[in-house]
Amino acid sequence: MSFDLRGSYALITGASSGIGLEIARGLGARGAHLVLAARRRDRLDEVAASIGRSNGINIQVVDVDLSHPEGPDTLIDMIDEKACPIDILVNNAGVGLYGDGLDAEWDREGAMLRLNVIALAQLTKHFGRSMKVRGRGHILQVASTAAFQPCPGYAAYGATKAFVLHHAEALADELRDSGVKITTLCPGSTNTEFFEISGHKRNQLQEATSMEPADVARQAIEAMLGGRRVRVTGFTNKLGAVGVRFLPRRLQAIVTRKVLS
Ligand SMILES: NC(=O)c1ccc[n+]([C@@H]2O[C@H](COP(=O)([O-])OP(=O)(O)OC[C@H]3O[C@@H](n4cnc5c(N)ncnc54)[C@H](OP(=O)(O)O)[C@@H]3O)[C@@H](O)[C@H]2O)c1
Repeated sequence: MSFDLRGSYALITGASSGIGLEIARGLGARGAHLVLAARRRDRLDEVAASIGRSNGINIQVVDVDLSHPEGPDTLIDMIDEKACPIDILVNNAGVGLYGDGLDAEWDREGAMLRLNVIALAQLTKHFGRSMKVRGRGHILQVASTAAFQPCPGYAAYGATKAFVLHHAEALADELRDSGVKITTLCPGSTNTEFFEISGHKRNQLQEATSMEPADVARQAIEAMLGGRRVRVTGFTNKLGAVGVRFLPRRLQAIVTRKVLS
């Protein structure tokens, strides 16, 4: 399996930190030209400078708020204007929101739904269509182990990730003969800014089983280039994702509440 991506273009959303930053590093190291998108321009510039120095590739940064209704169109227009055909789309940008579902402020929850679901679906449709016309391409959707069961404490977030997983698996089947591959990444707890932004203090079990973003990114890239449909990262997370299938839905919710709190 060739992991040489020289000459191809990869768009990574949420490339300013965490898993997205490490996926950008990994794809850049394989020679892909990069388009890095997120809100924090200063962080994107730093990431671009550090990746570009060691790899000599073409890197563009786009500061965009993908939770804004016009955010995805802004990103699409900027890329289309530059006429760089996207061969790899990594829909990684996402946020969580922890707490009782009815207590969450609608402004934050609505923004999360637009980012985790609407922006991802719109970017997938736009770039997926042109990949299909060209008969090749990879799409990597970043979901979560939260996708596999109801998640009290992360009610809406978990539901966004269930959308990501189901949407991607269905599209992967529709695209089976097209040359376009869709992989869904399902990480468990990973040491990034995610928990602080979600307002969630992890318990000892979660901290002990957390993975590093570079490790998650390495597995994501391997799965994507290997044409895998779903990759759950880490042994404990795989065990959980399989085990939960044998529980009634109500019990899945109880177990998940206890694991998260
Ligand atoms: N960490 C975990 O335990 C974990 C587990 C399962 C799944 N995930 C998923 O992994 C993905 C990456 O998260 P992470 O853990 O790497 O957390 P992170 O370090 O907080 O990264 C999130 C990225 O998304 C970007 N982003 C957030 N809001 C945005 C917006 N409105 N518009 C554009 N970009 C935005 C952030 O950049 P700016 O702030 O600069 O915009 C950042 O680059 C997310 O989809 C998350 O749901 C994480």
